Amino acid sequence: MALKIIITSAALLTLSAVVSPISQASLAPVYGAINVAVNHAQAVRITSTIGFSMGAMSWTDGPLDVLPWLAVWAFWIPVLEEIQVLFSGALGPVYGPMLSGFTSCQTVIILAAHACMGPLNKVYDFEAKFGKNIGIFAPVGAAMGIYFGLEKFFSETAFNDLSGLDPVKLQVLMALAFWALALLQYRRSHWKIYLLILPALFHTYLLNPHLESGFSTRGLESSLAQQNWTLLDRQWSNTGYISVIENVERGYRVLRCDHSLLGGEWTLTPKRQQSEGWKVGEPIYSVFEMLEAVRLMELSPRISDEDAKALIIGLGIGTAPKALAAHGIDTTTVEIDPIVYALATKYFGLPVTNNVVVQDAVSFVNSAVSTKSQKYDYIIHDVFTGGAEPLNLFNLEFIQSLRALLTSNGVAAINYAGDLTLPLSGLVLNTISKAFDGQCKIFRDGAPPAKSENVDEDEVDFINMVVFCRNKPGSISFRKPVKADFLESKSRESYLYPRADYEIPFPTVDVEDDKDDVLKRGKESDWKLHQAQGAQRHWKIMRAVVPDRVWELW
Ligand SMILES: *[C@@H]1O[C@H](CO)[C@@H](O)[C@H](O)[C@H]1NC(C)=O
Repeated sequence: MALKIIITSAALLTLSAVVSPISQASLAPVYGAINVAVNHAQAVRITSTIGFSMGAMSWTDGPLDVLPWLAVWAFWIPVLEEIQVLFSGALGPVYGPMLSGFTSCQTVIILAAHACMGPLNKVYDFEAKFGKNIGIFAPVGAAMGIYFGLEKFFSETAFNDLSGLDPVKLQVLMALAFWALALLQYRRSHWKIYLLILPALFHTYLLNPHLESGFSTRGLESSLAQQNWTLLDRQWSNTGYISVIENVERGYRVLRCDHSLLGGEWTLTPKRQQSEGWKVGEPIYSVFEMLEAVRLMELSPRISDEDAKALIIGLGIGTAPKALAAHGIDTTTVEIDPIVYALATKYFGLPVTNNVVVQDAVSFVNSAVSTKSQKYDYIIHDVFTGGAEPLNLFNLEFIQSLRALLTSNGVAAINYAGDLTLPLSGLVLNTISKAFDGQCKIFRDGAPPAKSENVDEDEVDFINMVVFCRNKPGSISFRKPVKADFLESKSRESYLYPRADYEIPFPTVDVEDDKDDVLKRGKESDWKLHQAQGAQRHWKIMRAVVPDRVWELW
């Protein structure tokens, strides 16, 4: 009996800890992983304290009785989440994840923690052994300690990336596991309660657009069609949920990663070819064609395309890798996500001959620096993804390592998106500048917006920038592009050349006196809240690009 209670309690605690990363993954496509994570740990601390304390206060009659109800609730989580995300636009990136996180994770923690405490006390009778105060607080404290450890382990280590697993399927699996525990505990009683499971399962299997089964996919397709969008492909991967969707009304397709777009292309339709003279599919984010201006930097001696070697960090839909390769440059691209690579090849015309290394950029760069095997004339750093800058790819050590991979005559172009009024943007830009001894210039994505009185400041201040840096001292200027540089693309004619009037000065770094004015390796977590601020602004921009309903349907 005692052993059975201990095993059931341990299983309950473990399962409710596993629920945490699954809940976060299931919300990331609608709110973005950073917005989902920002208040999550705090909420887990609060709810587990409530749950364990409640359990401790109702010692005597076994609160394991909530177990059958917990099982039923677990089956309803995907249904309730599905209903709640319909309001994502109104709730926004702060309250939305809080509400849905409460439904899909915190409720389970409260119920499971509550269910464990009473029976454990029945077995050990802590109060009789240790007296009233210690007898209550010590086991609650110990159980919370164990729970935090488990939750941290599953969220940050074991299931940090669910690699290919659909979280809705995992939610159903978790519900089955809770149900199995309930059945083990109570055998065949409570069957009337279990009837409540049926409608939830029915909804999840037939109507939930996020479960990758035949029925729900068909439902998803018709809901997306009403919005004039089509789903071409979708897969869960190591960086999150990746899909390719196409706007059939306006004729473009995008590569989506969670609540963010990695890139997109206008379709080359006969109409665009004939009446507008298009020759190639144009990227929707043409500003990033400015990255290719590394080739235009005035250098002595000049680097000819045939002899040049380039390294690109971050593939996206492959606009820059395709372009450099088209100019005959020996180009290596490092991309962490194998699915992004597969979809860029399948839907965005990235030639399979393109040299793409599927690896984490930090380990690639570190090993390239230590083996000194290869230097590059051009390095393009384009890793903005998921609504926030991955800070470990913007710290001083990483940028210095990139510089170490440049030939002495080499040039780097770094894409950064952020809000210049936020201290983190100043910090990152200053870090880049320091790593290159100030031999850099920043260009923004277009002319600064004319100041008007009614603009929402959140949105106008978030801009895309390209930072050009050279390895050896010298002026940063670009030769005028010629026809061949444009690769037959209309948008390159407008965006390739970094215009002098788009240049912006390096912002002053606004940090407290005791802090570094550059981002050092290992200090990224100090900037988590600043990063989350940027992620919230980015979320709003994304909602303006693609409508709420399309994000909600994934
Ligand atoms: C879909 O496209 C049609 C035709 O262009 C248009 O009339 C309709 O308003 C669009 N629907 C939405 C939801 O954008």
